[in-house]
Amino acid sequence: MKTRIEKIRESERQSHTEIYSKEILYNSDSWLKKPIKTVQDIVTYFADYDALRVLDLGCGVGRNSIFIAEWFSEKKCLIDCVDILEIAIEKLLTNAQECGVTESINGYVDAIEHYQIKKGIYDLIIVVSALEHVESKEILLKKLQEMEEGLKPNGIVCLVINSEVNERKTDTLEELDPQFEVNLETNEIQSYIEKIFNKYEPIKNSLSYQEYDIPRGEIISHLTTNVVTYVGRKIIT
Ligand SMILES: C[S@@+](CC[C@H](N)C(=O)[O-])C[C@H]1O[C@@H](n2cnc3c(N)ncnc32)[C@H](O)[C@@H]1O
Repeated sequence: MKTRIEKIRESERQSHTEIYSKEILYNSDSWLKKPIKTVQDIVTYFADYDALRVLDLGCGVGRNSIFIAEWFSEKKCLIDCVDILEIAIEKLLTNAQECGVTESINGYVDAIEHYQIKKGIYDLIIVVSALEHVESKEILLKKLQEMEEGLKPNGIVCLVINSEVNERKTDTLEELDPQFEVNLETNEIQSYIEKIFNKYEPIKNSLSYQEYDIPRGEIISHLTTNVVTYVGRKIIT
């Protein structure tokens, strides 16, 4: 008998494998069409840096990291990219080659929960729609703390996390188990972020309600979520 986490992992593996196999980065009608706006905005904070060290957890095929590497291509840039799926890292490395940024991208097939974040070395740590896929709330909190410690003074953290996710069958409206390992209430995740990054200067702190239909095996699920976005800068103390 599979556990809830195993079932979610299998379904996530299937849906991401399908999308990563058929969609082309930056040439797609899917969410792979461009980097998220928040990341497009963040890079400008590093305009006068000579070198940039980045960590992208749950990086996928490099939607955000390849953009950062290209944006910084005239300078020294090294991005550690971590994803649980082999196909994600394979495509990430192919995309890096095609975009001429191979030297800036380190790919690691690993689970966020097992990847040990090095202390005090990063200028930027991003986690976009991936932290809610760790095995438990306790691990999520541990990783947020590790991220805090992973940043250099003046470093920037960028978190995009789904909260209060609800899924229903589109035809019968039957309630489904949301396919997110950790599904926290919005207030709860906001309060953890506030606590762990309490010495940070907030750059962005927003909440956006989103709803869309998503295939779940044979059925289509209507998903609603409050997406929490937090960007903050570690103030030198
Ligand atoms: C919605 S996608 C987002 C990908 C990327 N951050 C982006 O914005 O394009 C979520 C990614 O997280 C990865 N992922 C899910 N659970 C993970 C885990 N526990 N450890 C590492 N990666 C994970 C998935 O394989 C997938 O590539």
